Amino acid sequence: MTAVQVAILAAGKGTRMKSAHPKVLHRLAGKSLLGHVVDAAEALAPERIAVVYGHGGEAVPTAFAGSRVSFVLQEPQLGTGHAVQQALPALAEDGVTLILYGDVPLIAVDTLQKVCAAAAGDTDGALCVLTVELDNPKGYGRIVRDGAGDVKAIVEEKDATEAIKLIREINTGIIALPSAWLRGWLSQLRNDNAQREYYLTDIIGMAAAEGKPIRTVQPHNEWEVMGINSRDQLAQLERVHQMATAQILMRDGVTLADPARIDVRGALRCEPDVTIDVGCVFEGFVSIGAGSEIGPYCVIRDSEIGAGVKIAAYSHIAGAKVGPAARIGPYARLRPGADLAEDVHVGNFVEIKQATLGRGSKANHLAYIGDAEIGRNVNVGAGTITCNYDGANKYLTVIEDDAFIGSDTQLVAPVRVGRGATLGAGTTLTKDAPPGELTISRAKQVTIAGWKRPVKAAKKTS
Ligand code: UD1
Ligand code: CA
Repeated sequence: MTAVQVAILAAGKGTRMKSAHPKVLHRLAGKSLLGHVVDAAEALAPERIAVVYGHGGEAVPTAFAGSRVSFVLQEPQLGTGHAVQQALPALAEDGVTLILYGDVPLIAVDTLQKVCAAAAGDTDGALCVLTVELDNPKGYGRIVRDGAGDVKAIVEEKDATEAIKLIREINTGIIALPSAWLRGWLSQLRNDNAQREYYLTDIIGMAAAEGKPIRTVQPHNEWEVMGINSRDQLAQLERVHQMATAQILMRDGVTLADPARIDVRGALRCEPDVTIDVGCVFEGFVSIGAGSEIGPYCVIRDSEIGAGVKIAAYSHIAGAKVGPAARIGPYARLRPGADLAEDVHVGNFVEIKQATLGRGSKANHLAYIGDAEIGRNVNVGAGTITCNYDGANKYLTVIEDDAFIGSDTQLVAPVRVGRGATLGAGTTLTKDAPPGELTISRAKQVTIAGWKRPVKAAKKTS
């Protein structure tokens, strides 16, 4: 395997975004544009990755603190060739160098593998350019070939003759070639062109002049090579990406009520026969077991959903684990540390945080369960609240198997409800409730005979 070095160009200003933030930090599917490109590069297992940045101060390197990517400042920006030159000290001199762009986020890993393989060649290597044919090639560098079909040069739109402007095969900008050749040619670049820039693309003419092999490779999909210059293009590419993700889900056996109305911002892994209704958003890493149904307008982040689960409309689930055959929602909220066993039911306006619910337990209406361990077959009545927080510290509520918690009960933690215990409705539990008994804290009901409602005082007339 040939060593790969990756240079990612990201120094452009992104004026058309009209943003205080560098263009490459804008997000597509929940991840920065540059993050997508760095991840694609990482998938090639390269020796080094160098990002050339320019605008926005240290915002770009800061966003990638802790990664193994090197950052190189390009100031001023004198063109794509100049940008690659700045990256060279951060890259090793061996193998093949691949040039990517921080604002071309959807480039596919298998396309890059083809480009790198073509550049590594069988013996001496080759210069490989990723190209596409466009109906409207305006603005792009054109691939100029000779009568035999061999690539001779790339000519920028601003330097092109009318004949060259008719060429529809364009330079996507993504190029790979032996690192040693790149170093030699970059040092010979000149800026005697219409834009007074050092064009990376001039190395194609140099390669042709030296008789080096030049190959071209095409991506599977045109959108892989689309760059983002405006918020409109960002939104368009977001839709393209979401539709591609939806197609993969359907191919793998997921039913989507409408593939145009699902948003995956991270990784969604589904077993077969999962059904997802419209308007759902999945963030981070979410897995869903076979046959589960997700109702409309649910937001699910970093959670594990078991098989045969039904999640009804408008449920919000983050950092939670939902066991098989559970019933959730509508309007349920599961927060980090919610861990529900098999066949648990959580109904409307129930919030669960940092709590385990054992098999078959139910909290069907209006409750807050935080910092709790709840056993099996427990029934939590409507309006039950674990008072877990005293304003400074949090305490645990334990409810053992088969307990029945009457409606509108407050459990003032730390407190324990014994196995099979019953709490009467309206109880404020401040001490442990013994197993098997009814515990109740209500005052005795009285009726005040002959009591009259107050009447409105008569208005004074002056
Ligand atoms: C470039 C190519 C053109 C190709 C097109 C594809 C050159 C000379 N031309 O043109 O053949 O069809 O991309 O989109 O390479 N950048 C820097 N530093 C610089 C200049 C640019 O980092 O000094 C970065 C930009 O942030 C951007 C990318 O390089 O991500 C391309 O720059 P841009 O000026 O948009 O190139 P084009 O003129 O579109
Ligand atoms: Ca330009």
